[in-house]
Amino acid sequence: HSAMMTQLQATPLRTLALSGRRGAGAAARPTAGSVRCSAAARSYSITLLPGDGIGPEVVAVAKDVLSVAGSKEGVELRFREMLMGGAALDAAGVPLPDETLAAARASDAILLGAIGGYKWDNNEKHLKPETGLLNIRAGLGVFANLRPATVLPQLVDASTLKKEVAEGVDIMVVRELTGGIYFGKPRGFGTNDKGEETGFNTEIYSAAEIDRIARVAFEVARKRGGKLCSVDKANVLEASMLWRKRVTAIASEFPDVELSHMYVDNAAMQLVRNPKQFDTIVTNNIFGDILSDEASMITGSIGMLPSASVGESGPGLFEPIHGSAPDIAGQDKANPLATILSAAMLLKYGLGVESAAKRIEAAVTETLDNGFRTGDIYSPGTNYVGREIECRCFCQINN
Ligand code: IPM
Ligand code: MG
Repeated sequence: HSAMMTQLQATPLRTLALSGRRGAGAAARPTAGSVRCSAAARSYSITLLPGDGIGPEVVAVAKDVLSVAGSKEGVELRFREMLMGGAALDAAGVPLPDETLAAARASDAILLGAIGGYKWDNNEKHLKPETGLLNIRAGLGVFANLRPATVLPQLVDASTLKKEVAEGVDIMVVRELTGGIYFGKPRGFGTNDKGEETGFNTEIYSAAEIDRIARVAFEVARKRGGKLCSVDKANVLEASMLWRKRVTAIASEFPDVELSHMYVDNAAMQLVRNPKQFDTIVTNNIFGDILSDEASMITGSIGMLPSASVGESGPGLFEPIHGSAPDIAGQDKANPLATILSAAMLLKYGLGVESAAKRIEAAVTETLDNGFRTGDIYSPGTNYVGREIECRCFCQINN
């Protein structure tokens, strides 16, 4: 597997894990093997996909944060905004226009806001915003989705779990993102032999698909607490039986990582019973979808959590874990921190500009230390703000 996957390391926020892209942007793209020249020469192209609901609000903030943090480090970022999701459906009639995928592929990294909304909920499947998201994941080949759930000490009171249960939780969910039941065939609607309507999907994994996500997860675990828990439903599902067999086989390449297996129902329970038992979790697409939402809630707010999706090569896709929250869009209520932290991940793991990423992470920490909170992370005694939290971050980055 690629160099992109090999330099996995822990970060101050204990987020994830991948090295930067090898090449700089068009203005300074080095030839293979060349050494990157002075910081001032670095220029990268970023595709912005604001999407729907609160997506445009939080991406606008993250874009400004990226520009400021980049320029502080002598890095030029060129942005190109493209349509995706409901916004693309309204403007172009499809959830992922060809130009959007082409622009994303040609750029150095992609920052996505969120997609979806009531307006398009009853669309046919190929005209749903979610289909655009699945297609861009597949189109970019970003099979590894890393979703950290870290309880920050400043926010421990925002967790719905007891303080002693939530305190110190630091989990990384490594979710397989381009396979399994989300993409498996056959799928569709039909009729059974009683003439009743049916709907069906296929949970399918090849050994190669399991091996590559397992290797990413072992690498991540190795740089974190050295513990990997593989979650499956191998007591019932064939796809899970193969999953367990392959993950167990790959474990021999990582003798320094302690591997355990857990059924998904038990894992869902253990996550709220004793989340501190987990370090790194690896699981399939659908279990990862569900468990990462559950894990995120331990931290107090899904509005805090970034994510990164990467493949063997090509640009990574960085996005907050939360959705488009149409109910609070345009009301100065959205928490932009998950997208800001996704921007930090983009800089560090997508572009390899770690110094700029550190500026952003420090600014977020400082802003929280100073007591500023959006509604989703508010607790009594803190300072309730809306968009102002963004200004606080800027001040910190500019310091
Ligand atoms: C996520 C979301 C998506 C998914 C939806 C919007 C298609 O829930 O990124 O977790 O299921 O993967
Ligand atoms: Mg989800």
